[in-house]
Amino acid sequence: MVPILLEGLKRLEYRGYDSAGVAILNGTLQRVRSTGRVAELERLVQQQALSGAIGIAHTRWATHGVPSEANAHPHVSGGVSVVHNGIIENHEAMRRKLRKQGYEFVSDTDTEVIAHLVHANLASCGNLFEAVRRAMGELVGAYAIAVVCEGDHSRLVIARHGAPLLIGLGDGENFIASDASALVQVTQKMVYLEDGDCADITLERVRVVDAKGGMVERPVQVSQLSAAAVELGQYRHYMQKEIFEQPMAVANTLELVTGAGTVLPQLFGTDAEGVLHGASSVLVLACGTSYHAGMVARYWMEGIAGIPCNVEIASEYRYRISVPDPKALVIAISQSGETADTLAALEHAKKLGHEHCLAICNVPESALVRATDLRFLTRAGPEIGVASTKAFTTQLAALALLTTVMAKLRGRLTPEREAALLQALRHLPSALSTVLHLEPQIRMWAEKFAQCQHALFLGRGIHWPIAMEGALKLKEISYIHAEAYASGELKHGPLALVDRQMPVVAIAPNDVLLEKLKSNLQEVRARGGELHVLADQDTKIIHGEGMHVIRMPDHAGMLSPILHTIPLQLLAYHAALERGNDVDKPRNLAKSVTVE
Ligand code: G6P
Repeated sequence: MVPILLEGLKRLEYRGYDSAGVAILNGTLQRVRSTGRVAELERLVQQQALSGAIGIAHTRWATHGVPSEANAHPHVSGGVSVVHNGIIENHEAMRRKLRKQGYEFVSDTDTEVIAHLVHANLASCGNLFEAVRRAMGELVGAYAIAVVCEGDHSRLVIARHGAPLLIGLGDGENFIASDASALVQVTQKMVYLEDGDCADITLERVRVVDAKGGMVERPVQVSQLSAAAVELGQYRHYMQKEIFEQPMAVANTLELVTGAGTVLPQLFGTDAEGVLHGASSVLVLACGTSYHAGMVARYWMEGIAGIPCNVEIASEYRYRISVPDPKALVIAISQSGETADTLAALEHAKKLGHEHCLAICNVPESALVRATDLRFLTRAGPEIGVASTKAFTTQLAALALLTTVMAKLRGRLTPEREAALLQALRHLPSALSTVLHLEPQIRMWAEKFAQCQHALFLGRGIHWPIAMEGALKLKEISYIHAEAYASGELKHGPLALVDRQMPVVAIAPNDVLLEKLKSNLQEVRARGGELHVLADQDTKIIHGEGMHVIRMPDHAGMLSPILHTIPLQLLAYHAALERGNDVDKPRNLAKSVTVE
């Protein structure tokens, strides 16, 4: 069991890597924890020759309490041991209550509350499953928990409320995890729990009880995820692998239209035609890189489909007093489909009366996909690197399709224009491959960037969000302070920062804003700023003193933002490598943020 647990942790390490721990029942409860990476935990586990048939393990992304061994999971109370994803919001009140009952706390985590609470319940009811069920009644917040207990070597009890949790069915053995990628090493048969579910798991059987206390059968799904899809293969880093997988990932996402002569609304769900036709406007909700995809979509939706479009950061929208338009189509964009803020924003929109929601998501079984009536699954494959790359470009491909459908439904697309857009989409994977060949030139830029403390990214129009994405990539993994501005804003403040020490990246597509952008570039040059320009063919932006130009292919029209993303990803990747950073696991971040 221990090797399976450690392998599962390695596969999920990208989701949190502040500390790791494992607890095994083998006569008594044995626990090993360490700060740092799973490899370190593995060394300790081998040193202590840990073994047993039942156990739990965890990698942490710190919320309550610094990354330390004392705060690492599993947490224990007497013989009870718990791992937990999520946040217990009433942990302070629970702490006070449990202290009065004589419990002592040895960590700063909210999770320790769960261990003591289950222990207290177990003392009064004598049954681990019942003890966890009772705890669920008292815990407020989001959680996926797994509990074992020294007095009962036959079972594992798990519970879910607002954080992903699934069971992997084996032969005479069963497994649980927060993500299918941890389990494909042992089984493809998965059972996804619903919110409020509590499950009793033994070697032979699985019993699930829902929020109301009734026994339920959750469907068994056969995961399509292959073990190879989550392996590094020939690459040094997952981010590198995922950048270079983009032509294939985008081709997979667009597969349903590559052979078609037209784009059908049904790509987004069986009822999509009526819903999309009836939408009065669009409201996009997302976080991080997915938010940037939404920002690009806004230009497409308004510019091509002629439909009003608002894009909101999910964590802002959920708490902002807004004026809802119930006929607006809500589009939630999320790679993981588990981002707590995006899920909460979607629920908020529903409460405000929004009638229809569409998920654009990369994970078929995710909470987001289950929460919307319309959906489009990007087919990027598992994304492991914390900095999102192929998830972003496939989201853009999906949004380009959606724009085409919306434009058609609104009578804004002639058959000729539709055919041209489809042709451009079909060509996109090969255009992406061409841009990837620019890597050696980008690496030379990256060597210089790695020496700098700050960088500025400029773009206009639909390429402004691409500048934002480029700046986000750079800061996420190289830790270089990077900011993005709409170039027209330069003179209203950021120009004051420009000097020889701060490289400026400019995205220069050959579009209607090119001459305006060129003026902005002159403003930078006149102040001694070093420009690094990604210029389409025929832009007549010439390499020279303080002006470094990488020539992009011909202007790709509507799809240009997708192509201009690639060099920015490569720039961040190589700058981070130059600085010796852990590209796939940047400090302080996590891949899937299932807490608020
Ligand atoms: C985290 C990740 C980002 C991602 C964001 C939104 O911050 O590190 O790469 O863009 O979450 O994630 P989602 O899964 O909702 O797209």
